[in-house]
Amino acid sequence: MEVMKAANARAAAGGDVIHLEVGQPSTPAPAPVRKAAEAALRSERLGYTEALGLPVLREAISGHYRRRFGVAVPPERIVVTTGSSGAFLLAFLAAFDPGQRVAIAEPGYPGYRHILSLLGLEAVVLPARHDAGFRVSAELAGAAGPLDGLLVASPANPTGTVLAPESLRALVDFAAARDMLLILDEIYHGITYGAAAETVLKFSDRAIAINSFSKYFSMTGWRLGWMVVPAELLRPVECLAQNLFISAPTLSQWAALAAFEAYDELDGNVARYAENRGILSQGLETAGFDAFAPADGAFYLYADISRFAADSQDFCRRMLAETGVAATPGIDFDAREGQNFVRFSYAGLTADMIEAVKRLKDWRK
Ligand SMILES: Cc1ncc(COP(=O)(O)O)c(C=O)c1O
Repeated sequence: MEVMKAANARAAAGGDVIHLEVGQPSTPAPAPVRKAAEAALRSERLGYTEALGLPVLREAISGHYRRRFGVAVPPERIVVTTGSSGAFLLAFLAAFDPGQRVAIAEPGYPGYRHILSLLGLEAVVLPARHDAGFRVSAELAGAAGPLDGLLVASPANPTGTVLAPESLRALVDFAAARDMLLILDEIYHGITYGAAAETVLKFSDRAIAINSFSKYFSMTGWRLGWMVVPAELLRPVECLAQNLFISAPTLSQWAALAAFEAYDELDGNVARYAENRGILSQGLETAGFDAFAPADGAFYLYADISRFAADSQDFCRRMLAETGVAATPGIDFDAREGQNFVRFSYAGLTADMIEAVKRLKDWRK
């Protein structure tokens, strides 16, 4: 946030900024979604929906799992939420009691840790290692002592790490053997560059899968997500949702129905990310940043900058001041080793990647 503030100040003072710090698509919602939103504005009352979401949208999400993953997910187990952020809150509240221990990876998305601690839960940090591709494994979780839950993202932010199906299955078995809850953050599903990421729902109906319209569907500001919960959590989640949110945004729900007609447009965005990823990784490598996490998904490169600087925050500040390229210091994602890493986002325009690479090469000469 500090880098974004500095980047905005620089832009306001007339300086040019290349925004590689952003964590969201640079595209608007796909055309059918915008059209559906216009139609819903004209024809729908747009009052509250049922707390679990519009039944037609829950059906459509179930259809998405059938088409894209070949998995049958009963619509009754799908809960429409206010972004995945709303889903985390509901899932943690429904599944855990204060004082319980939930493991999360470091580096990882900072929201997990903050929501867990706000709810009086203990966030147990799993030190994911660079030389293990920042993967969370059953062994890593097994070394963390007694746990009540394990939350893993695949593809992950900030590393782009994707879990192979056999690793996912190993986590499912690990959680079952210990009678603990496994939660998968699948928000970057659809944005992968090799094999598609597998859903945990293929291996388990005991795990919680959390997803969102924010990333692949390019709808961050529409604040819409969903989760699939085990049957016994459905009623607690429904009661919590009724009281905390009443319902997710109704206009967004009607519009999101059309998101499942937009695969071609959305896959076009992913093709651009793939091109950007090639340009940025090659360019950064030439500029001397060669120690990336294996970014098989999402739209981030997480680079080790320890050969250039001892403090990634200071490094980002200097890089912005001297080149106009904004990126995110790793300390946002990792209190332990984040001073050695910087996250570059390639969700932007290809022309911006080309220009950023040119400037960084000149800078590091
Ligand atoms: C890994 C991960 N999970 C969850 C979120 C929250 O997204 P939203 O609430 O828009 O679904 C983000 C946002 O950047 C993220 O990177």
